[in-house]
Amino acid sequence: MKISVFGLGYVGCVSAACLAKVGHEVIGVDVNPTKVDLMNEGTSPIVEKDIGRIIFDVVKSDRYAPGKLVATTDAEYAVRESEISLICVGTPSNDNGSLKLDYVRRCANNIGVGIAKKSGYHVVVARSTMLPGSVEDVILKELEAASGKQVGKDFGVAMNPEFLRESTSVYDFFNPPMTVIGQYDERSGNRLEEMYHFLDAPLEKTDIKTAEMMKYACNCFHAAKVTFANEIGSICKSIGVDSHKVMDIFCMDDKLNLSSYYLKPGFAFGGSCLPKDLRALNYKAKSKDVEVPLLTSIIASNKVQIERVTDNIVRSGAKKVGFVGLSFKAGTDDLRESPLVILVEALIGKGFDIKIYDRNVSLARLVGANKDYIEKGIPHISKLMTGEIQDVIQHSDLIVIGNKAEEVEEVLKSVPDDQKIYDLVRVSECLDGLPQGYEGICW
Ligand SMILES: NC(=O)c1ccc[n+]([C@@H]2O[C@H](COP(=O)([O-])OP(=O)(O)OC[C@H]3O[C@@H](n4cnc5c(N)ncnc54)[C@H](O)[C@@H]3O)[C@@H](O)[C@H]2O)c1
Repeated sequence: MKISVFGLGYVGCVSAACLAKVGHEVIGVDVNPTKVDLMNEGTSPIVEKDIGRIIFDVVKSDRYAPGKLVATTDAEYAVRESEISLICVGTPSNDNGSLKLDYVRRCANNIGVGIAKKSGYHVVVARSTMLPGSVEDVILKELEAASGKQVGKDFGVAMNPEFLRESTSVYDFFNPPMTVIGQYDERSGNRLEEMYHFLDAPLEKTDIKTAEMMKYACNCFHAAKVTFANEIGSICKSIGVDSHKVMDIFCMDDKLNLSSYYLKPGFAFGGSCLPKDLRALNYKAKSKDVEVPLLTSIIASNKVQIERVTDNIVRSGAKKVGFVGLSFKAGTDDLRESPLVILVEALIGKGFDIKIYDRNVSLARLVGANKDYIEKGIPHISKLMTGEIQDVIQHSDLIVIGNKAEEVEEVLKSVPDDQKIYDLVRVSECLDGLPQGYEGICW
């Protein structure tokens, strides 16, 4: 395949060299003539393990057919001589923290001018990290304006986030955790998929905005992981525990710790352990004068999630609110620190007329260890409970789905279209076919 790579920084250099190594014909493009000259001499413009050898091979030696990689400052030539262009230019921060898209805009303009003068279909792929909406609002618009041509007809567009880490970037390029293709249309995505024929990694095709956002979710999570480990480490040191021993054992748990568990957006956490244990560790850190801003902010963030739901219910205009589910998750009657109890209390305080159905909690009112707590600890909530789910449906202007109880399906089937449903737990993966008044908390 003939590929042009715009921007010969870390991402562009590695992409250009590795794509040439597997047999593609690659043209590297940069506005900086020094980088272009270096590359044409067979020298890497960046310092990275293995990259110098690969660039020398694909530019100069016979090993991979010399001339598989050439570099230029001439964007029009590069577009004319290729079928697919990768945008790998920088997307730094502005002084106020916002994303600077000037280089991307300029690059898309350069490619658009090239597309204007070329016949035949061309695909433009964004590899730079950009906030959701940037590809459509900046790249796609700039390409159409500069080329006078139409996306989907004359050229294709895709977003293909890069997962490499500096210092191991060549290894990462050939061994990505996955390949994500956010495609404008199937034709664009299929061309890009062909380019990656040599990769043995899961390939996920999705829409462009999801691909853009996914990269931010990854990087923010990585940053949070580093900070989390550092804060745990600082506390460990202050109390004479070896943090590496702790985290080595922590990392052995691939069921709860290093897994997809707890990583689905939804309502606040609660229950008898997480809030109390966070409080205890934060207090210990404070008593040792160890600042742990991440750990401290978790409870505050959880509170905001409950307030967000309260505010949304107030804004909905509903006066009668029904709850399906009160315990912090289905299948338990434990109401200790259930965020749903906190939510119900906030709504009672604002004068809402509330009815609650939770089969497990209703059972616990009759027998069980929680009987006393429900009747004496939270009598103001206990008296709002009903044993019949239909009571909740008939009573409410708005129904809050609080946990994934079996009965939820009955609710979704039997509510009229104009009844509002507020889902805190993503009851259904299939969001089509849900009642008109359905709304999810984070989706
Ligand atoms: N560095 C990483 O480890 C890494 C990893 C994944 C994703 N990313 C993302 O990839 C993008 C590129 O990062 P980088 O570190 O490679 O950037 P970089 O700053 O090292 O390189 C960018 C290159 O683009 C060139 N350039 C600017 N405008 C151009 C234009 N109009 N035409 C051609 N070349 C142009 C610059 O001269 C420079 O050489 C960023 O969005 C970054 O967030 C970086």
